[in-house]
Amino acid sequence: MAADIDTPLLEVRALSASYRTPAGAIRAVRDVSFDLRPGETLALVGESAAGKSSIGLALLGLLPSNASVDGGEARYRGEPLLGATPDRLRQLRGAEISMIFQDAQSALTPTISVGDQVAEVYAAHLRLSRKEARERAIARLREVLPDAERVAKAYPFQLSGGMAQRVMIAMATALSPRVIIADEPTASLDPSVRQETLGALERLRDEQGVGVLLITHDFGVVARLADRVAVMYAGELVEVVDVRTAFRAPRHPYTFGLLSSLPAYASERGQLVPMAGQPPDLSDLPPGCPFLPRCSKVTLRCRAEPAPALAAYAPVEADPQPAEAHPQPDEAHPQPGEAHLVACYNPIAVALRE
Ligand SMILES: Nc1ncnc2c1ncn2[C@@H]1O[C@H](COP(=O)(O)OP(=O)(O)OP(=O)(O)O)[C@@H](O)[C@H]1O
Ligand SMILES: [Mg+2]
Repeated sequence: MAADIDTPLLEVRALSASYRTPAGAIRAVRDVSFDLRPGETLALVGESAAGKSSIGLALLGLLPSNASVDGGEARYRGEPLLGATPDRLRQLRGAEISMIFQDAQSALTPTISVGDQVAEVYAAHLRLSRKEARERAIARLREVLPDAERVAKAYPFQLSGGMAQRVMIAMATALSPRVIIADEPTASLDPSVRQETLGALERLRDEQGVGVLLITHDFGVVARLADRVAVMYAGELVEVVDVRTAFRAPRHPYTFGLLSSLPAYASERGQLVPMAGQPPDLSDLPPGCPFLPRCSKVTLRCRAEPAPALAAYAPVEADPQPAEAHPQPDEAHPQPGEAHLVACYNPIAVALRE
């Protein structure tokens, strides 16, 4: 059955994952829920170690051997991902869901030539002969590189960062996947390759309806590409909202702090400046809200109880009714894409900019 345009490509519900380490379990992803729809870019933002990459790896069955998925569900066009067999995940990866990895150069296999790596994508999924796969690979590389034949013979260490990124995007998009998980796709690229990469993602989204889960620190990239923003803090999503509202009137004190500390706030070149304080130790989370030690809006409840689950934001001054009285996402068919969701007992009530 073909999924229609409104069917989410990805539905993630209460996903939790952790890493086993000698110092104890690192609870990197806790109760994370979101949807990704066709033609949509959802930006996953938050400081280093928030758990952003771990979400992408968990969805694709690529977590390292010391990690485990501890709970939740994830579906791709209705099909369960977390319980999928390794064979099914291999079929889905690349053909349906691709990941552009955080460090292109080290994500490529060092001992295999670039041409053979791209050819392998075709050979594995399309049952082509070596020769046919090789030809397809060269043709694909020609679309993104001026000197495809030479690059095809090279090994990853012989490529510049920008070149490796182009190869990675060529591989990730070779089979026209419906979902791309782009993990810091522009980090450490020079400005022209950065623009080119963002343009490529934009075209895939707008012309082919690809859903992009965009993991980034760079709010310039968020402003250019994202439709919605999911803000992650210490393993949890703390705010999910459309991009305009995220920049104009963020409600979670963490999002507010993150944005208001940008030197060129919301400008094309805005870079994230770390806020004062540090995220908590994910292997030893304190009671109460994990953002508490850095928060300007702490109440007694924030210390006494775990932070609330994401819920539709309800302006306190505008309406004295408790949040429960406001329209809530339908529990049988939750649609996290539509509401302004905030996980805070005492959200910010003023706009950051008009
Ligand atoms: N292989 C691993 N073994 C143990 N801990 C890990 C491993 N990979 C990640 N972690 C820990 O899990 C937490 C989440 O890491 P993750 O890489 O998902 O964060 P991130 O938000 O992608 O950060 P960054 O922005 O720096 O890429 C961090 O505390 C990190 O140290
Ligand atoms: Mg990461």
